[in-house]
Amino acid sequence: MPLAVVTSAHDFRRACQEARVDGELALVPTMGYLHAGHQSLIKNAAQRAPAVAVTIFVNPSQFAPGEDLARYPRDLPGDLHKCELTGATFVFAPTNDAELYPPGFQTYVEPGPLAQPMEGEKRPGHFRGVCTVVAKLFALSRADAAFFGEKDYQQLRVIQQMALDLNFGTEVIGRPIVRESDGLALSSRNAYLTREERMRAIALWKALDAARKAFRGGEVEPARLEELARETLQQDGLRVDYAEVRSAFDLQRPQCADANSRLFLAAFLGKTRLIDNGALGE
Ligand code: PAF
Repeated sequence: MPLAVVTSAHDFRRACQEARVDGELALVPTMGYLHAGHQSLIKNAAQRAPAVAVTIFVNPSQFAPGEDLARYPRDLPGDLHKCELTGATFVFAPTNDAELYPPGFQTYVEPGPLAQPMEGEKRPGHFRGVCTVVAKLFALSRADAAFFGEKDYQQLRVIQQMALDLNFGTEVIGRPIVRESDGLALSSRNAYLTREERMRAIALWKALDAARKAFRGGEVEPARLEELARETLQQDGLRVDYAEVRSAFDLQRPQCADANSRLFLAAFLGKTRLIDNGALGE
């Protein structure tokens, strides 16, 4: 069956309603410019449910003024092709922002403490925008399950908590980061990198690897693991935004790192800001 594409919130709600008559519906929310990480989420969703809805919407409310909203990479024809190849049933790709933010829109979802450190601190209002749009997609779709990548691990935890707190009844499932062969985590924003920056971008993976090796060697002091990661990033000329060891569940800073503690990284390569993270025990 050819991939169906709906562009209005009304048609999206109806397509989801119809899909749910025959069984479970799984949702994969994205901002488009799909890569193999998104495609693996779509494949996981197709294993979970007979119907898979992918959403493609560059959500303006999660970008702060001065961030990359206007230049965020877009390729709808390419994205639709990838959705079709990977097993999506239908795609919701609003043609204008008013489908989700109509005139007079004024109600936002305010996340709690999970949204405060790291991305929350560096990008004020970001998770409020993420939670608001994801809440709207959950409300429209009433999906049984929704899939998110662990590259945005803090986002995953914030959305899991939101789904619980607001009784959406949508199971929020995180899937492992998909990486290039040299370790760089796939991200739509990798498209901003020049050839030379792309080569240096593996510093994020090197920093994660250095911290993991130190942890395996017995280092459990979060500050020392963070310092090691910072040094590794700086050696390759990246400007560190943060390097933080946090617990996987509540994202608090542990006294001593354990195997489930994660190292979270954000760093600039020129104007491009990249993030990565991983469990120290992996
Ligand atoms: O991770 C993303 O691509 C976005 O933050 C999301 C979850 C689709 C909300 O706009």
